[in-house]
Amino acid sequence: MQNNKVNTAEQERELFEQRVATNKAAIDSGDFSNFDDEVEFTLEQQRKLEQIELDKVAPTNPEAILEVRHLKKFFVLKKTFLGKPLSSLKAVDDVSFMVKPGETLGIVGESGCGKTTMGRTILKLHEPTDGQVFFEGEDIAKYSQKDMRALRTKMQIVFQDPYSSLPPRSTVGDILSEPVKVHNIVPQSEVKDYVMDLMEQCGLRDYYYERYPHEFSGGQRQRICIARALAVKPKFVVCDEPVSALDVSIQAQIINLLKKLQIERNLTYLFISHDLSVVKYISDKIGIMYLGSMVEFGNKTDIFNNPLHPYTEALFSAVPNPNPDEKTKKIVLTGDIPSPANPPKGCKFHTRCPRAMEICKHIAPEYKEMGEGHFCACHLYD
Ligand SMILES: Nc1ncnc2c1ncn2[C@@H]1O[C@H](COP(=O)(O)OP(=O)(O)O)[C@@H](O)[C@H]1O
Ligand code: SF4
Ligand SMILES: [Mg+2]
Repeated sequence: MQNNKVNTAEQERELFEQRVATNKAAIDSGDFSNFDDEVEFTLEQQRKLEQIELDKVAPTNPEAILEVRHLKKFFVLKKTFLGKPLSSLKAVDDVSFMVKPGETLGIVGESGCGKTTMGRTILKLHEPTDGQVFFEGEDIAKYSQKDMRALRTKMQIVFQDPYSSLPPRSTVGDILSEPVKVHNIVPQSEVKDYVMDLMEQCGLRDYYYERYPHEFSGGQRQRICIARALAVKPKFVVCDEPVSALDVSIQAQIINLLKKLQIERNLTYLFISHDLSVVKYISDKIGIMYLGSMVEFGNKTDIFNNPLHPYTEALFSAVPNPNPDEKTKKIVLTGDIPSPANPPKGCKFHTRCPRAMEICKHIAPEYKEMGEGHFCACHLYD
């Protein structure tokens, strides 16, 4: 009986190794007709786990204010009777990057690719499923909500919709004073002067202090939201599509205000947007997301002058070129965005990629550094 068991385990291992060898031969020959996707998936998971374990103990980058390693946020869609997850939606699926103090990291990608979820998970407004989030060298992914309370002043968020994110029954003065009082930012006797000063820095007139949010336009409300986020003197701010809900004529004013405040206060921004021209203007670094994954990341100049990933190329080709002499060929992406609850095997982008090859359907490309600080996940560069 014992022997039988050993034999079976050994036989299974041998069989697995044979299937691995068949897959290797398929990769070498380019003929994937006998390729075993299940075996590849198992190997891919093993490789990922090994890398995660290695990175877990690697020293943090002393230059980074924020370093994210293998961050995951899965939303459970179905559970068993006993509460065990049966299926989940991988909104953020193994994302890693770092930002230095005073920099802006722009995050771009189509709606539903996980930008908001990533921003909120970094701030721990969502509990991470896995991964590390080092803020000033401390892994806050493990922090309890109680531990996070002390950090809330250092990390803030500005939401997309300035209409719904302000309490309608409080005056602007009350809205801005409350966080200052709660977190003891200045002595109580100085709160009003502090708030007035903050309002001036954010382009809000004195008399707004007694007024209510509904009395203002979208642009003015977003200035109030920005002032509220900055009231507690944060170091890091997630700006989640802060101008998307505003008139185009107002957008530049708000972007310029964010830039001015960043310089005055040495702020670090994670700036989420689906608008590439806005991201180009404000960012130092750019990350491109697709279906929960970072597919390309780098300095703004590298990303704009030398985009590597076909998805980045397609996004850029959709932006109108102001120079009529420079003709850019528009790349039209066909097919719907797949669901992050059931992403395609291999490269998640293969169902829409104009440059997809046979290998892309079977093997997920590795996220690799292609040039200094320029990362990309695509088989074109294997
Ligand atoms: N609380 C939630 N529960 C379940 N699914 C969610 C939740 N929040 C977001 N999602 C899903 O996660 C994916 C990423 O959403 P989101 O982060 O809002 O994308 P983006 O900001 O890029 O538009 C989407 O498929 C969305 O439907
Ligand atoms: S790996 Fe293949 S499918 Fe994916 S982006 Fe690169 S070429 Fe396209
Ligand atoms: Mg969003």
